[in-house]
Amino acid sequence: MELKDKKILLGISGGIAAYKCCELVRLYKKSGAEVKVIMTPSALNFVSPVTLSALSGNEVMINMFPETNAELSETVETKTWHIYTGLWADVFVIAPATANTIAKIVHGIGDNFLTTTVLSARCPVIISPAMDEDMYLNEATSRNVSELKELGYWVIEPESGELASGLSGIGRLPEPETIFNETVKLLNGVKKDLEGKKILITAGPTYEPIDSVRFIGNYSSGKMGFALAKAASQRGAEVMLISGPTLLKTPRNVSRIDINTAAEMFEAVKGHLDGVDAVIMSAAVADFKPKDIKSEKIKKTESNLTIETEKTADILEYLGKNKKDYKLVGFALETRNESEYAIDKLKRKNLDLIVVNNPKIKGAGFGTDTNVITIIDKELKTESFDKMTKFEAANKILDRI
Ligand code: CTP
Repeated sequence: MELKDKKILLGISGGIAAYKCCELVRLYKKSGAEVKVIMTPSALNFVSPVTLSALSGNEVMINMFPETNAELSETVETKTWHIYTGLWADVFVIAPATANTIAKIVHGIGDNFLTTTVLSARCPVIISPAMDEDMYLNEATSRNVSELKELGYWVIEPESGELASGLSGIGRLPEPETIFNETVKLLNGVKKDLEGKKILITAGPTYEPIDSVRFIGNYSSGKMGFALAKAASQRGAEVMLISGPTLLKTPRNVSRIDINTAAEMFEAVKGHLDGVDAVIMSAAVADFKPKDIKSEKIKKTESNLTIETEKTADILEYLGKNKKDYKLVGFALETRNESEYAIDKLKRKNLDLIVVNNPKIKGAGFGTDTNVITIIDKELKTESFDKMTKFEAANKILDRI
């Protein structure tokens, strides 16, 4: 009874693998879960709602609007049905997810009961793509699947093997046991320990203008800060993300302010400190900025270019000096004597935790999806971790906070 009393919403879209969902419903029910099924209209071509209704013990939801013929109109409750269904679930599993349904989710389209409910669900959403290999490897689908992950959906990768088309390749829906195990793993791993907490996170680089077309910047991709925002939001926190220039998508349920310069980040941070429980400065804020910004493009004929710089405001130091009731976390990017330099920063800036990484180590630092971190606290308790995804690293940092 691994899923006793868990509420599972299963969304089925129109692919041949939809038949596997009958077995999936049975596995969920057998382990104690309550199951409700949503089908897209095209899923009806592949599996009968009567079967799924009998297996789940609940009416299958298909239409956006309840029937409103004269006989029913007096008994139909005019509730916002999709909102209630989304709020009801502990987890929303979409299997199989077709290329079309995935594209709609990525773009926020709600044109049927399934996609509309995704928009309003607050619970974790697992998406299990299944389609023919050519559709799966199509550039638009690949991009959409990557975006699903960035947005904070849990994607179960499809398997390779024989496909319905008779071709062989990647795109098969994993066996029901695999999707079941992933659901258990997710439900057991999701902590809601940050509910009611407000967390301010900074991410990405800052761009310090030189002239009207050039800037001083750095290689930060923002991935660590965005992973922190996604993890904190999934654990129930109200998250404000202040981000420098990046191409990353805002994780679900996260508020975001975009800035360019260190000075703009400083203002945005100061403006959002009210009532925060933690501030995590994962942004790679520029330490120096050009003293004068030329309003026109500097011509190469002008002279040898020398840029005079001045220090930017140290936001972390300000937060440490003016600390109220929040936990303060800083990052240190060190290429040598990591602990020594990091401990010095921790003390100097009055931090509660410092997260150290060395971009010279394989799998750590800028642009990668993984990181190798060490967390040091005020008592100098030091915890070093092996290489892990930035999302896992984010959860380790949040555990310590
Ligand atoms: N930071 C900040 N404001 C700045 C510069 C950095 O808030 N103007 C924050 C970063 O977000 C990060 C931490 O400070 O959390 C990094 O500390 P810092 O002393 O700037 O380290 P380095 O940039 O690595 O500088 P150093 O050359 O001293 O190692």
